[in-house]
Amino acid sequence: MPGHSQAAIAAYPELGCTGKQIKTATKWGVFEDIYCTKESTFKFLEDVIDEVVELFPGKYIHIGGDEAPKSRWKECAHCQKLIKKENLKDEHGLQSYFITRMEKYINSKGKQIIGWDEVLEGGLAPNATVMSWRGTAGAVEAAKQKHNVILTPNSHCYFDHYQSDHENEPLAIGGFLPLEKVYRFDPIPEELNEDEAKYVLGAQGNVWTEYMQTPEKVEYMAFPRAIALAEVVWSVPENKNYADFVNRLAHFNKRLDLLNVHYANHLYEIKGKLLNNNAQLTYQLENATDNKILYSLDGLQPSYLNSLTYKNPIKITSSTTIKAAIFNTDEKQLGSVFEQKLDLHKAVGKKISLSVQPNKGYNAGGKQALINGISGNNERYGDKEWLGFSGDDVEITIDFNKPTKINSISTRFYNGNEQWIYAPKTLNLILTLEDGSLISSKKMITKKDSLLVNFDVNLSQLYPKNNILKTKTLKLIIPNYGIIPEGKQGAGHKAWTFIDEIIVE
Ligand code: ACM
Ligand code: ZN
Repeated sequence: MPGHSQAAIAAYPELGCTGKQIKTATKWGVFEDIYCTKESTFKFLEDVIDEVVELFPGKYIHIGGDEAPKSRWKECAHCQKLIKKENLKDEHGLQSYFITRMEKYINSKGKQIIGWDEVLEGGLAPNATVMSWRGTAGAVEAAKQKHNVILTPNSHCYFDHYQSDHENEPLAIGGFLPLEKVYRFDPIPEELNEDEAKYVLGAQGNVWTEYMQTPEKVEYMAFPRAIALAEVVWSVPENKNYADFVNRLAHFNKRLDLLNVHYANHLYEIKGKLLNNNAQLTYQLENATDNKILYSLDGLQPSYLNSLTYKNPIKITSSTTIKAAIFNTDEKQLGSVFEQKLDLHKAVGKKISLSVQPNKGYNAGGKQALINGISGNNERYGDKEWLGFSGDDVEITIDFNKPTKINSISTRFYNGNEQWIYAPKTLNLILTLEDGSLISSKKMITKKDSLLVNFDVNLSQLYPKNNILKTKTLKLIIPNYGIIPEGKQGAGHKAWTFIDEIIVE
């Protein structure tokens, strides 16, 4: 409450601001119809709390508070009257009034409330415990106000996000949260001093089940990440050791087998990374267990017969496909084959700068991911190759170090409109040539109905001057799509922009 109440309002239309009959949702999302703040709604909610209090012996009742759009309250005579009567600043003040009033009622039953970090809007209810999910800012703010907090940031604690970028992973909501990232989570935000840190009660993993039809799938998403989080909250940071955790987990999996838990096993997955040391490109392979990695180039299947044992990052001097796998001491392959295609186009490993940082949750590969010779996943944007920007216009500058003849530029945009992600409508390209002159080109992006929207420019055809002169720097100016239109998921919010490898030939 007051948001995420569409089902209740569909059953009892008088609980909403319009009083009109609405339908229950058939898809997940954030919906405009929220509880109206009239007296009869509070009476109803108090009745519900009376029943909940009877059912659950615990000290806390989590009342939500998250994702409550204010559009209905803005248009509602009751809600506007109450804002005036209570001398509230605006609809956020009304959210605070709503939460504080429910808190008082719940406190009178001997219980405490927990609310998502939106309960900070317009002023925190006096005794509320805050669950910080939109990053850690809510936890910092609440702890500084001497309120208890629980960390569950969507950067480290959302077990509904992908745990592997392997293409066989079952469909998930998006995001990328590998086991190691959970393990490396520090639940005490660095902005808090020792006294403030005492308000951190702990951390929680969230497993929202929009994409999980079976209990087995829930287990797959929760394990082993829940085990990593348990160790995080029960350990002092000095005692954490990921390599040790992973080797213990390999044994612990036998317990999970006995308990018939359908856990995910990515322990034998190989992680790869292109390294650039003074224009010397190498490719690093990693696995957290202490088994051997064998690899081959040019796409050969890795095996004891035709592969090399990985020791140091592999020198990369031309486009190739690396395949690698983990083998135990009995020469048995563990896990599946890692495969990475590397396309050594002209921007790979060059200097790149961005005018704004990608959103923290979608910046796993950092800015170099845009020019590392590796394209993003064709289906999903949550890997370490796609970069996601939330609502910002983005300028990307690639400095070729020495003037370089370029013929074409191409990239891709993710266009998952249901996830609020939109390809831009236009794109500007500015090349600085070796004589200091500029080529500037504005492109409209017209094809917008597919999940991936390609952008290609053939410069040698378009700009004869480019055929003679080499390029020093390339700038891509990518305006955000803008506000998501009415009737779409996320309507009224700014769209996200997701961009893939910038391929320069
Ligand atoms: C949340 O994920 N809406 C708390
Ligand atoms: Zn209302």
